[in-house]
Amino acid sequence: MLLSYLRDRLRLTGTKYGCGGGGCGACTVMVSRYQPGTKTILHYSANACLLPVCQLQGAAVTTVEGIGSTKTRVHPVQERIARAHGSQCGFCTPGMVMSMYTLLRNTPQPTMEDIREALGGNLCRCTGYRPIVDGFRTFCSSFYCPACVFQGLPPQLFDQGDLLPLDPTQELIFPPELILMAQTEPQMSQRFIGENIVWISPVSLDELIQLKADHPQAPLVIGNTNIGPDIKFKGALHPIIISPTRVQELFAVTRTAQGVYIGAGCSLSVVKALLEGLVQELPEEKTEIYRALLQQLGNVGGQQIRNVASIGGNIVSAYPNSDLNPVLAAGSCKLSVVSKGGRKEILLNKDFLVGFGKTSLKPDEIVLSVFIPVSRKWEFMGALRQAPRKENALATVTSGIRVMFTEGSSVVKELSICYGGVGPCTVSASRTCAAIIGRPWNEQTLSEAYTVLLDEISLSPSHPGGKVDFRRSLTLSLLFKFNLQILHKLWEMVRTGSLLVQIPLWTVLYVIGYHKRLVNGQSVDDQVGRPVMHHSAISQATGEAVYCDDIPKTDGELHLVLVTSTRPHAKIRGIDVTEALQVPGVVDVITSKDIPGKKFRTFTGVDEELLAENEVSCVGQMVCAVIADTREQAKRGAAVVKIHYEDLPEPVFTVEEAMEKKSYFQPQRTIERGNVTQAFEEVDQVYEGEIRLGGQEHFYMETQSMVVVPSGEDRELRVYLSCQHPTYAQESIAETLGIPSNRVSCHVKRVGGAFGGKVTKTSAIACITSVAAWRSGRAVRCVLERGEDMLITGARHPVLGRYKVGFMNDGKIIAADLHYYANSGNTADESVLVVEKVLLHLDNAYNVPNLRGHSVACKTNLPSNTAFRGFGVPQSMLVTENMINDVAMKLGRNAEEIREINMYKEVSLTHYKFQFDPKNLLRCWDECKEKSDYDSRRQAAGEFNQKNRWKKRGLAVIPIKYGIAFSEGFLNQAASLVHIYKDGSVLVSHGGTEMGQGIHTKMQQVASRELHIPTSFIHITETSTSAVPNTCPSAASFGTDANGMAVKNACETLYRRLEPVRKQNPTGTWESWVKKAFLQKISLSATGYYRGHDLYMDWEKQEGQPYAYFTYGACCSEVEVDCLSGDYRTVRTDIVTDIGRSINPSVDIGQIEGSFIQGLGLYTMEELQFSPSGVLLTRGPSQYKIPAICDIPLQFNVYLLSDSDNPHAIYSSKGIGEPVLFLGSSVFFAIKDAVAAARAEAGMDGPFTLDSPATPERTCLACNTDFTQKIPPSRPGSFKPWALNIP
Ligand SMILES: Cc1cc2nc3c(=O)[nH]c(=O)nc-3n(C[C@H](O)[C@H](O)[C@H](O)COP(=O)(O)OP(=O)(O)OC[C@H]3O[C@@H](n4cnc5c(N)ncnc54)[C@H](O)[C@@H]3O)c2cc1C
Ligand code: FES
Ligand code: FES
Repeated sequence: MLLSYLRDRLRLTGTKYGCGGGGCGACTVMVSRYQPGTKTILHYSANACLLPVCQLQGAAVTTVEGIGSTKTRVHPVQERIARAHGSQCGFCTPGMVMSMYTLLRNTPQPTMEDIREALGGNLCRCTGYRPIVDGFRTFCSSFYCPACVFQGLPPQLFDQGDLLPLDPTQELIFPPELILMAQTEPQMSQRFIGENIVWISPVSLDELIQLKADHPQAPLVIGNTNIGPDIKFKGALHPIIISPTRVQELFAVTRTAQGVYIGAGCSLSVVKALLEGLVQELPEEKTEIYRALLQQLGNVGGQQIRNVASIGGNIVSAYPNSDLNPVLAAGSCKLSVVSKGGRKEILLNKDFLVGFGKTSLKPDEIVLSVFIPVSRKWEFMGALRQAPRKENALATVTSGIRVMFTEGSSVVKELSICYGGVGPCTVSASRTCAAIIGRPWNEQTLSEAYTVLLDEISLSPSHPGGKVDFRRSLTLSLLFKFNLQILHKLWEMVRTGSLLVQIPLWTVLYVIGYHKRLVNGQSVDDQVGRPVMHHSAISQATGEAVYCDDIPKTDGELHLVLVTSTRPHAKIRGIDVTEALQVPGVVDVITSKDIPGKKFRTFTGVDEELLAENEVSCVGQMVCAVIADTREQAKRGAAVVKIHYEDLPEPVFTVEEAMEKKSYFQPQRTIERGNVTQAFEEVDQVYEGEIRLGGQEHFYMETQSMVVVPSGEDRELRVYLSCQHPTYAQESIAETLGIPSNRVSCHVKRVGGAFGGKVTKTSAIACITSVAAWRSGRAVRCVLERGEDMLITGARHPVLGRYKVGFMNDGKIIAADLHYYANSGNTADESVLVVEKVLLHLDNAYNVPNLRGHSVACKTNLPSNTAFRGFGVPQSMLVTENMINDVAMKLGRNAEEIREINMYKEVSLTHYKFQFDPKNLLRCWDECKEKSDYDSRRQAAGEFNQKNRWKKRGLAVIPIKYGIAFSEGFLNQAASLVHIYKDGSVLVSHGGTEMGQGIHTKMQQVASRELHIPTSFIHITETSTSAVPNTCPSAASFGTDANGMAVKNACETLYRRLEPVRKQNPTGTWESWVKKAFLQKISLSATGYYRGHDLYMDWEKQEGQPYAYFTYGACCSEVEVDCLSGDYRTVRTDIVTDIGRSINPSVDIGQIEGSFIQGLGLYTMEELQFSPSGVLLTRGPSQYKIPAICDIPLQFNVYLLSDSDNPHAIYSSKGIGEPVLFLGSSVFFAIKDAVAAARAEAGMDGPFTLDSPATPERTCLACNTDFTQKIPPSRPGSFKPWALNIP
């Protein structure tokens, strides 16, 4: 593929690997081709991970390196994403840049809609997308500048005045030699013969037909978006591949009065543009089918996929949930098919689409074109779909419905209803159609039709993909939605807003409110408090920033691939590596027996094996590792390692099973204030409820990566890795190898996202890689593929929360008893610490006088879960807030009222007897309500809900009180090392790792203030255990607090040392003082140290001071829910946070927005699914959906609380990395509020269950519409579900 060619052969590492399957956009490049017919050049974005190099004959490929660099000239696209703070960890940035660059090559003045479309296939896990859009919208001809609302201060976080102008005449030209080649060289067929594949590219149709006759089993590869993933992920073997991209007949478009013939090779983007043109040109009544197709085409994959995927490929791939086939089949489209036997036309219908990935095409037949007819008068077509994410997601259910009425009446003459997602292939509801044809299209006909439809399309409760009840209800509700469209079109009966209200998909308004809180007389060189750009944003945008896997290979370097358990619980009876060792290139297979030192790591007192020796306890557990000359060889070796298992009975997967078997990690924790048991006796009402919260995959864009290099002498190892805790990796490796720590140096330049997932798990993999390097004496590289990473490295803990709450009729909660069961997986990892933090935050913002919590880490046979941003707090507080919601529902009041009644109001003690002042919490709450205009919007939502039957609006305001720092006091220390060189330049090392959170930028600002010099003098070098030893993890939102103080300390020392020379020459320059100091033998190097807070928690006494201080915030979100599909849109979000005096508002706002969107993903979208035998099914962006650009709230306002100080942290700032993630739950509770309105209309009041994430499936089923009520529930226990209900 082009991606490995670029990265490995050409050493162009700016193009990144994020998933390898076309789902993330990290590998986006621009492909340009000369079109001899029109003498034009076509530019399009594409995913390099799916682009076969052989396919690129005659094409020019532009990568991020090609458009600009710091050594030559930075391109305006690169500059703007950087200056707008759109690059945090930077791993997605080159892909974003290339998507935008390609758009500008075609459309130099794009619209916001163009930008949305161009970036729809690019994922970012850090930023929350707003700053990326913010940077790119400056290219629009008239970009909307949000109101400057904040006390006269400009809200912009970057200066838009002096941006590099975009000058299309300065762009790279298409290589003239390629034009010449296309114009003059005769087209010849080509063959590329590889190790395992012969690639044949014919130029004429006859040749293609002959080739297909000779090699009927050889696939025709055009976009490679089906065959590519099949080869990569399913191990499909194709010794011969035919690539017909130069056969012109496959790309021809012919129009007739009856319709249009579109060449089967045309890309979906070309088809889309063509149909858009036809819709413009033809009378509306003729374009029903075209418009329905356009509706679907906008949703197929991202732009990069649509640019290469062919219409013929989509049809012939015959996916069960193809979006095009239901429309084409319902629209009576035809295929022209050729083979040696001649040409024929066949209808694209159920006789053509015969099974999963199967059509009735004979192996030697080729689809030449697709005929799409124009529609007739009285004919209407609809295409409706429902997917786990609004864009770039395969549909759960998709449909094409066409109806033809008898002229001038409502009597149905023809009807065709086709669905995707409800069977092995596109399904035609012909019995339902027969029941409607000949009858008037009215409520009675349809209501009878629903009964037939329900019977006709019935799914087994074990249907692959699950969501069976939801899918069945969608078949009904999509037909009903089509009915609404028809009513609207046919009789114009529907008043706008009365049944379905469309909200614009994309407006994105935002306001950012912050005070630049500069100190009096602050010099312009002092950068503290200013929105300074991320220190390496520009090099991230140009692709020059070096991530772990970008480090050039050393001589003789080997690759390591892990072999993992396929059983959830089994004894290992033997590991046979004989065959693996015979695979060419394989050098060694490492098993537990090969570990020279400690074979396990110990977390929270429990040993965890690095490689399983005698027993495995989850699917995905590491058993051995194969090392080989290349990654491919190592993979081949890993595939033939034979592990003989003896299954052990009854693996434990859910927390209920763990509870039954008392399968827990110790200790369990309990905390109580007041007397809960007694208080329950005295309250007006008692309610018991529960909520389940699913796990969350970190989905850092850079997968786990490391290179271990033995130095060749003194048993030294240099380890380059992408991790949050280099010291821990160093210690672990030393213990594993049985050598002292001083022989191992760990180096972290930057991390492409971590979110807690690169602390313990990275170290374990680094230990194994080090053993490989140790044994072989050669450098070893291990970079996990996305699927391996998701399988092996665990996730956020899923939690079951149960509660009993006692309250008075006025809303005051008197007693609460909460139980948390966290699914920890097969090893302890940090789980006990996570469940402790769960208990420490269960009060959130509420002063419940009698409060009891119990939490336990359940040991199960799933992959071991680990730290994730928030470390248990997002789980803990969701349960608390759900409890408050239930109280409100019991009392028939708004949840916000109950929240206010129960909030801490004055200086108080928490349930662990820690004193704090909630003043700023209350200020955040009040300001949030005021700025969001909560009261009037709540009223407006009520009015909206009264008027709309199928769409409901909901609001929620959620507060947060989040403890900052490590409750294990020793982890709060930090150190730094600062050198001043003779030319005045300053080199700073500190213990924090740069993961996108901007810690290096903030450290530069700190050093700038303390040394009184501009940041341009200061360079922050990699984090290295050789420079700064014994560091603590970059976690707990404490990195800046701790390392900032350590850097400050070192700089203060140095500045003091310079005092004599400064006094001697007060008007001298920095450089002159430094030079002088050297001559006067003053040391220009200093270490800095910060002891940190002595925090503790005494669980025996149930009291302590586990946090340095609290960060506060409040967030109001409003959503609109489509009750028929469960789809929702966040209409508006307003966040107010108290982060003291921000050191860098742009970095902090970036953390706020990014973590909010990550929280939105946790609570509303991201679903990890496991098979009934404990196999993780969601192993890439195709199955696991994180928020994309389409998920940003339509209006997203962030405010930093003014006049807040914090004596407990550097420069009065506050940690903000984690707290806001929980505020994403405001969207969850807003959805719940909207669902409650829908249920109320159906006569259902009172508390109800809505588990997290509130996916469209759960939301729709909770709405309990007429359609969901029709689905007979499957009897639990009578079938094996497709996926487990975790926790
Ligand atoms: C990340 C991602 C997201 C996606 N999202 C969606 C989505 O939301 N909705 C949706 O409907 N689809 C989606 N798809 C599927 C995508 O649309 C199809 O994979 C694509 O259209 C197939 O076209 P291709 O040219 O890439 O096929 P290829 O992979 O090149 O070929 C696919 C198959 O079609 C056969 N074939 C191709 N052309 C012909 C022909 N002319 N005659 C006979 N056989 C032929 C080949 O032999 C091969 O077996 C997605 C795919 C990816 C990777
Ligand atoms: S790496 Fe190519 S799309 Fe993810
Ligand atoms: S900046 Fe986008 S993934 Fe990190």
